[in-house]
Amino acid sequence: MTMISRMIYIHIPFCDSKCYYCNFCSSVYSEKIKEKYFLKLLEEIKLNKNKEINISSIYIGGGTPSSINEKYIKSIIKGINQNFNVLKNAEITIEANPCSITEKKLLVYKNLGINRISFGVQSLNNKCLKIIGRKHTKKQAINTIKLAKKCGFDNINADVLIGIPKQNYFKLKNTIKNLIKLKIQHISCYMLINEKGTKLTNLIENKKVKVISEEKCVTYYNKTCKYLKKHGYSRYEISNFSKDNFMCKHNIGYWQLKEYYGFGLSAHSYIDGCRYSNTCDMQEYLNNKLEYKKEKLSSLEQTEEMIMLALRTVYGIDLKKLKNLGYDLIKEKKQEIDFLVKNKFITYKNDNIKICEDKFGVTNQIILKLLP
Ligand SMILES: C[S@@+](CC[C@H](N)C(=O)[O-])C[C@H]1O[C@@H](n2cnc3c(N)ncnc32)[C@H](O)[C@@H]1O
Ligand code: SF4
Repeated sequence: MTMISRMIYIHIPFCDSKCYYCNFCSSVYSEKIKEKYFLKLLEEIKLNKNKEINISSIYIGGGTPSSINEKYIKSIIKGINQNFNVLKNAEITIEANPCSITEKKLLVYKNLGINRISFGVQSLNNKCLKIIGRKHTKKQAINTIKLAKKCGFDNINADVLIGIPKQNYFKLKNTIKNLIKLKIQHISCYMLINEKGTKLTNLIENKKVKVISEEKCVTYYNKTCKYLKKHGYSRYEISNFSKDNFMCKHNIGYWQLKEYYGFGLSAHSYIDGCRYSNTCDMQEYLNNKLEYKKEKLSSLEQTEEMIMLALRTVYGIDLKKLKNLGYDLIKEKKQEIDFLVKNKFITYKNDNIKICEDKFGVTNQIILKLLP
């Protein structure tokens, strides 16, 4: 019998405070709600029990998984192991905020088999950190990464934001330089998105804070890519850079449309060509009978998804896979492809289309040209 391999995402919607730029499904909740939440989460995991499914990666994200008592993380890992067949070499990631990490928590995570930790650093400039409502300092962030290394973590990521108000390339480069000095294996650099309704967007709209132009952000991004490359971090996706063999398997799985379960508030699953989504409303999640919203992706939607996800990676689009979905990109978008190849935005070789190394800053515009 061939065993099916899937991934698991667990959403922890709890944070100690809300950063000014963030509109993720996360908030500050009481301990009572947390207790109820984890009972429901375990119920959801049990409901999907299947010991014949191999789990190749687990990603505990949020919100801030490090903000909650480690007993909850223990119960989740135990619950997953009891209900699925977690592979021995599975990648298990936890997201952490420098404000809430302690040595005790790190040692518990390590004992549970968590082998990758992803820190929200955002910046190592105290002024930038303050402007976006982060509660930690540069020093705290550096010390927690050092602590994680001391506790035996050898697969560490740091998230960095490009385009923080008052940031310039010098400050950004200094952040990256300090992270490189820490010899971490992975760095994610996200362009700051000014989401509607967040405190930061309100401050910008009321002209209290000045936004950094998109042009400048693209320049910072391109310079950062070169700087990281020079120091041995290769870009394998638009926002992700790693040392050799330290790419995040879980994220690669998403981009290759691998099947996954998503458990918890607002989580999505992708199984058998269907997308299942959980509610974003905490009370509804706690009270309902765990009924998911199910949506079968049409082959057009699968095609769009494949183009969007694959073009963000350095592996590009496998045109044969697209053809299997019934879409002949070369035939349908001949003019656009000729233009993009001629102007060195993309390469087209051996049934594969990739974005050129220096054009990742305009990935979204290229994707728009190639979508059906
Ligand atoms: C769940 S958080 C990481 C862990 C922890 N909650 C923390 O922030 O320290 C995931 C990451 O998403 C990124 N992020 C959140 N809001 C964003 C936005 N508006 N634009 C770009 N990136 C954002 C941040 O880099 C953040 O570290
Ligand atoms: S960035 Fe992280 S810590 Fe800040 S509010 Fe969002 S999830 Fe919470």
